[in-house]
Amino acid sequence: MCGIIGYIGPRNVVGVLMEGLHRLEYRGYDSAGVAVVDDGKVCGEKRVGKLSNLEEALKAHPLRGSVGIGHTRWATHGRPSDSNAHPHLDCSKRLAVIHNGIIENYVRLRAALAARGHAFASDTDTEVVAHLIEERYQGDLAAAVRSVLGEVHGAYALGVLSADSPDEVLFARNGASPLVVGLGQGETFVASDTPAIMEYTRKQLVIHEGEVVVVTRHGAEISTFAGEPVEREVTRISWDVRAAEKGGFKHFMLKEIYEQPKVVRDTLAGRIDDDGRTDLADAGLTDAQLREVKKVSMFACGTAYHAAMYGMYLIRQLAKLPVELELASEFRYSHPVVDASTLAVAISQSGETADTLEAARVARAGGATLLGVCNRVGSALARHADATLYTHAGPEIGVAATKTFTAQCAAMALFALHLARVRGAADPEELRQIAAALRESPALVDQALNADEEILPVARRYAKAKTVLFLGRHVNYPIALEGALKLKEISYIHAEAYAAGEMKHGPIALLDEAVPVVGIATRSPIEEKVLSNLSEAKARESRIIAVANQGDDAVLEIADVIFQVPQTHHLIAPIVNVVPLQLFAYHVADRKGCDVDQPRNLAKTVTVE
Ligand code: F6R
Repeated sequence: MCGIIGYIGPRNVVGVLMEGLHRLEYRGYDSAGVAVVDDGKVCGEKRVGKLSNLEEALKAHPLRGSVGIGHTRWATHGRPSDSNAHPHLDCSKRLAVIHNGIIENYVRLRAALAARGHAFASDTDTEVVAHLIEERYQGDLAAAVRSVLGEVHGAYALGVLSADSPDEVLFARNGASPLVVGLGQGETFVASDTPAIMEYTRKQLVIHEGEVVVVTRHGAEISTFAGEPVEREVTRISWDVRAAEKGGFKHFMLKEIYEQPKVVRDTLAGRIDDDGRTDLADAGLTDAQLREVKKVSMFACGTAYHAAMYGMYLIRQLAKLPVELELASEFRYSHPVVDASTLAVAISQSGETADTLEAARVARAGGATLLGVCNRVGSALARHADATLYTHAGPEIGVAATKTFTAQCAAMALFALHLARVRGAADPEELRQIAAALRESPALVDQALNADEEILPVARRYAKAKTVLFLGRHVNYPIALEGALKLKEISYIHAEAYAAGEMKHGPIALLDEAVPVVGIATRSPIEEKVLSNLSEAKARESRIIAVANQGDDAVLEIADVIFQVPQTHHLIAPIVNVVPLQLFAYHVADRKGCDVDQPRNLAKTVTVE
């Protein structure tokens, strides 16, 4: 959703805030703003549109101070505009508030505040918080904030700055709105996400739901909403600062696509040995627990859902367990049947997606054991799960997920192999072969990247397409879904994915010479079936782009264009096959001049349901 940042210390406050907002811009980019305390007054600037608009405004009206807060917005309540941009002020203009999340009861609160004489300057839900604190403030900012927290409902991370308390800045968290504090020498940072602070410090405190943190230049005091002090261990930020830089690439997304051999390697490291024997002890589920599982229930959103679908196919086939898969946003409304013998698997790179967290809560309430698969150490999912299998993809800044997807797929393959081995469900020799292919996958992903130069001109040729159809079967069906999602979200070209065999049941009516079809036709036991489906499309005049292995003559006969990928075991091939589809989407979007890293209307982490 939105990104929030705070700083108190001797540096150029606005510089730190703006640098942090740049790192958080992936969370929302409808508008941005900052506020500082200077000379006993709250001063600020805010602008609709990208951060560059705010930068221009700050050049014209520079701000200075020793404490400040900043915000980058993904609009929920109130259209993107200067007045709806955060921070929001109270009537006295001595308080500034920033907010990530939704205040669900704001309509009632706003009406009551207006009746008591408060004047509102925006259409947002956030502004009520500033006016409520104004009413409650009697010289103790923390007490005023606490009393307001009892009245506002919803999920939020809030930041509060007061001209009357210039030596502190307050933050509070409720629900899925992440918040971290960075501890420096005589300075303290707060942000929605680690990349915004990791340039300055390696020491971090993760703020949990239901906590208030009073931040001064000497550190941070955490307490519950009720005021009980909380002890929190300082964790070390292990991510490399360069991971949050573009490193010479035109876009973060392209850099992240190219990081995939490394992230797959890192995700496998120490978890699979030369003989293909898996060891997932670090995830925290014992072999005995895994042997007791009677059913696996999986849920996730967006790209992570596609990784979950890949996992579903593998677990069914290798571990021979019943697996249910649901979109996390549908899970709790679908009356899921879970009990103590169910292993619920929630996949989320951020570990903060509200729909996934809610589904996880429902699964646990039903008695299931919860395994979280996530990329963010200390995220809400990791904290709520009984066990966590981390992907090691590092920070992903491009809004469209790429490297976190391949890392999730590698984690799924590891997990399925492990479950199959522990339960004695599959032929050990078959498992050994699949494990060998998985170990080899980082090198194969690297080879798949070599097709980049050939993909570029194809992408240019198809950049004017109005609709593109993606087809795949079995484990490559989720890859078709992911290819279509990547294309539509960053290039705004309408793209649909179908299980290839389903095309003849309806979507075939869409096909003509203007609708290219991208088919995943690498070698597998069902390759011939996929080729038949592609032939059906070709017979309707569609141009066929095939992801295929070298020297596969059968594909050559059908396809107009081939994106060549190295051959591997068909169950591991999806990890490799997605690469050309990511590159295709990237080059189409870049050709069209789209904002690849920050596509319109999207936010990287969706912390509202
Ligand atoms: C698409 C994309 C989204 C996310 C989805 C879930 O490129 O990034 O579809 O995959 O919002 O996010 P996480 O994995 O953080 O739960």
